[in-house]
Amino acid sequence: MDDPAFQVETDLQTQSLLLAAANHDVRALRDLLRNTSANVQDTETGFTPLHAAIAACEPNEPVPPLVPSKQVNGHTNGETTNGEIAQENSADQRQELEMAEKTIRLLFLNGAIWNDLDSNGETPGCIALRLGLKELYELCVDAGVRAELLLSRLDEYQRLGDTDSEEGGGEVAEETNEGAEREDLNVEEGGHTAQEAADESTQNPNYLSSILTFDRNRILDRSDNGVMMEWETTLMRRSAELLLPSASLRVLNVGHGMGIIDSIFQDNSPSSHHIIEAHPDILKRIKEHGWYDKPGVVVHEGRWQDVLPGLVEKGELFDAIYFDTFAEEYKALREFFTEYVIGLLDPAGGVDREGGKFGFFNGMGADRQVCYDLTNEQIVEMDLFEAGFDTEWETIPIPNLDSEGKWEGVRRKYWVLDKYKLPTCSFIG
Ligand SMILES: C[S@@+](CC[C@H](N)C(=O)[O-])C[C@H]1O[C@@H](n2cnc3c(N)ncnc32)[C@H](O)[C@@H]1O
Repeated sequence: MDDPAFQVETDLQTQSLLLAAANHDVRALRDLLRNTSANVQDTETGFTPLHAAIAACEPNEPVPPLVPSKQVNGHTNGETTNGEIAQENSADQRQELEMAEKTIRLLFLNGAIWNDLDSNGETPGCIALRLGLKELYELCVDAGVRAELLLSRLDEYQRLGDTDSEEGGGEVAEETNEGAEREDLNVEEGGHTAQEAADESTQNPNYLSSILTFDRNRILDRSDNGVMMEWETTLMRRSAELLLPSASLRVLNVGHGMGIIDSIFQDNSPSSHHIIEAHPDILKRIKEHGWYDKPGVVVHEGRWQDVLPGLVEKGELFDAIYFDTFAEEYKALREFFTEYVIGLLDPAGGVDREGGKFGFFNGMGADRQVCYDLTNEQIVEMDLFEAGFDTEWETIPIPNLDSEGKWEGVRRKYWVLDKYKLPTCSFIG
């Protein structure tokens, strides 16, 4: 590898491949791909052939960024924002885009990684989104879905983004459910599969034994990751309204945190209100704040994984269930709705007995639009469907948390998007 002649040869191949991709020269590309990987990267820009193929479509005039697709399995969710690109493409541009599509398909067929980062920290999908190139963006999302589905079937969710061990082939990204773990399907700086900062405190058992810091408007773990933050109150309120719209219903909440959603549930005087919480510091506050004495409240101390089998055995049923934990992988959420919601949610419950409802904090992949779209519109909705649930999504605007200084003192931003997709699930049929 140290042979200078070999190095020159390699650089030449890389540059030829990047050039062919940028020119959308499918024939040249096909030849080059016989001997060269589709995942070479330019040392300066960090461009892979996918980045080059997409960036080359940058229109001369600036276009508004693409509003990401809401299309799910061939049907829309009633929103019409999908790819309304303000600018009409000229015939030339149209042709160029078609060639770009062919180029991208060829690269994916040859094993191109959908979520490699360039030196600006962008995946190819991010560039397509920024440039308003709807078709190219959707090709990237589809490739991501294929990769994730395949991996989930092969290895029950080998961690998406599992660090360096994925080198060269890991188009996977970390999937977790909250906080630093609310990073999930994320792609991190400097590596295509990231979670390099997968600090040990972000693993659930370590988190549960760590000391927490409580501020007026947030809870941080020992590494200053946000466990829960007050800006999420709007999301909690809306979930509570949809899940528990009237009084005298039965509700189960997993993960007490700042007690925001539990307080909103209490305002509606549920007939029974079960709370499962595992962290000793939070449990201490639950006691201090008098939760044990509130009417109808039952606090279960421990991990939901240990508490729920007992509740199922006792035949407890609920009209509403909410799930929002920390430092758990996506597969924990999936286990929760596949194994437990089915046994705990009353199909003949809810308002007017129209069936119980289930909701959860939807923060997976929220540090990058392409990952958020991929997780929600494809993976999560499909998993919920397979588990027997219909999901309704409501879009909620999120203010600019950065400019409001919300992230000051927090180690990593687990939310950077301007819209939250709030899920409410009910049994199919
Ligand atoms: C993001 S907070 C919940 C915030 C809450 N929705 C609110 O409105 O304030 C997550 C909570 O889940 C708890 N938790 C984490 N893992 C858990 C587990 N396996 N079982 C039960 N609770 C867990 C954490 O200790 C934390 O209190």
